[in-house]
Amino acid sequence: MALRNILIHPDPRLKKVADPVVSVDDDLRRLADDMLETMYDAPGIGLAAPQVAVMTRMLVMDCEKDEGAAPRPMVLLNPSVVWTSEERSVYDEGCLSIPEQYAEVERPAEVEVQWMSLDGKTMREKFDGLWATCVQHEIDHLDGKLFIDYLKPLKRQMITRKMQKLKREMARS
Ligand code: NI
Repeated sequence: MALRNILIHPDPRLKKVADPVVSVDDDLRRLADDMLETMYDAPGIGLAAPQVAVMTRMLVMDCEKDEGAAPRPMVLLNPSVVWTSEERSVYDEGCLSIPEQYAEVERPAEVEVQWMSLDGKTMREKFDGLWATCVQHEIDHLDGKLFIDYLKPLKRQMITRKMQKLKREMARS
């Protein structure tokens, strides 16, 4: 396993729609392992393939936050939301591609998601709480959408300018 480099916004690859997975091969399994390792190392609770510059509809997540609880790494291929609750919830979201910036985003409180597992099986599960927020945030990445796209333009521009400054500083060091 190896850590992958996480793209930082603004980057044109973070605005693109990713391509569906057509078959599971060793490269894809290796990518899933690398993405989980990169996510845990960051540390983060979710990571989508475009964030590591692979334009494939795959995401990993583990929102198990309870102290002492066993990790629950999940790998979702071609995920899609098949049902959303009418009830909505607000969560202070962040993103590994937009480090140290957080903002409240309102989304459906519960979602049912269908995806393909690494074994090629069709899976379906209902998520709530942090899991629901996370899976929706990560599926958005596969469609070139970031959480800041839900914010008012002024707030979004402010965060983008901070990220441009951060990237200039990173390039210098
Ligand atoms: Ni993100």
